[in-house]
Amino acid sequence: MIVLGIESSCDETSVAVLKDGTVLSNLISSQDFHINFGGVVPELSSRAHIQIISSLVKEALAKAGCSLDDIDVIGATAGPGLIGALLVGYTFARGLAYAKKKIFVPVNHIEGHIFSGFLMEVKPIFPLLVLAVSGGHTLLLLAKSFTEIIKLGSTVDDAAGEAFDKVAKMIGLGYPGGPKIQAAAEKGDHRKIQFPIADMKGKYDFSFSGVKTSVLRYIQSAFGAPKTTLIPEEQLNDIAASFQFAVVRALIDKCELALKNFEVASLSLVGGVAANEELRKSFFQLGAKYKKKVVIPKLEYCGDNAAMIAFRAQSLILAGEKFSIESDAFPNFSSKYFINASL
Ligand code: KG4
Ligand code: ZN
Repeated sequence: MIVLGIESSCDETSVAVLKDGTVLSNLISSQDFHINFGGVVPELSSRAHIQIISSLVKEALAKAGCSLDDIDVIGATAGPGLIGALLVGYTFARGLAYAKKKIFVPVNHIEGHIFSGFLMEVKPIFPLLVLAVSGGHTLLLLAKSFTEIIKLGSTVDDAAGEAFDKVAKMIGLGYPGGPKIQAAAEKGDHRKIQFPIADMKGKYDFSFSGVKTSVLRYIQSAFGAPKTTLIPEEQLNDIAASFQFAVVRALIDKCELALKNFEVASLSLVGGVAANEELRKSFFQLGAKYKKKVVIPKLEYCGDNAAMIAFRAQSLILAGEKFSIESDAFPNFSSKYFINASL
């Protein structure tokens, strides 16, 4: 089965071709100009997707050595994401499918992330504990199959990536926050400041607004911020390291609680924040402690990418799910395969 995947939910336009689950091409065009605005500007994002989508599809097909006629299935992100941005990739993909009479699969972006570990050579095994951490979501899930995803917990306020981005802005590191905090943290000492690790009383939920507010209070009292340029580099690095430590601990603690209470065959860490080195290291250590197989996608598949969208489309088709191009599946902001756990 050859699948063409298209992703345009935020500030990456991406097109991928997968043959029987193997990635033949996965092109990602990142809209770096948002850096000038301190965050993603939705209208500009949509326009940039429009400018590049057509040539990116051609390029991805060429790199994969395919033509549109070779494609069996076209999958595109149908949500969640910025509506205007989503519409570009979704309608482009749907138009192609309509013109070429291909099977069209609207893909939920989070489901794409959840199963992105399957793009790796060594695959996860069900039942699979998934920690999905991105700019918009923080979810702890127990995937029993490709169509049975038990939601154990989620954030009650900010997503982990959102907290990274907001704290980076607060301390003057700018956008994109995650990689900048990671780089500063590498030079800092996490033992210098103790930021709180939210305890959600045994539940699997997360909360990051407390740690974010603590960072704000700390810089206000220590440096009279928000004049953040006044924070000396050494202290800035310590704040970044201490904040990152608190977030990683909060995430890992909930995974550990789940491992104690549920029998799983493997663990997977996915989403944009899965690019974080400290989190990757801690997640591998947790897997080793419980003697479980750990699959973390390589960086190319952690951030937004079309390979995961194509894989998700393929997994749904192989699971026997049926799709009609006539049905209005847009937008798709909540996964129909999520089951709320009764804990
Ligand atoms: O999955 P993604 O690319 O887009 C969404 O669907 O949200 O995730 C983006 C998020 C951003 O909040 C970004 O700051 C965060 O992932 N991120 C990181 C790192 N790289 C990206 N967070 C922590 N450490 C990183 N190295
Ligand atoms: Zn994402």
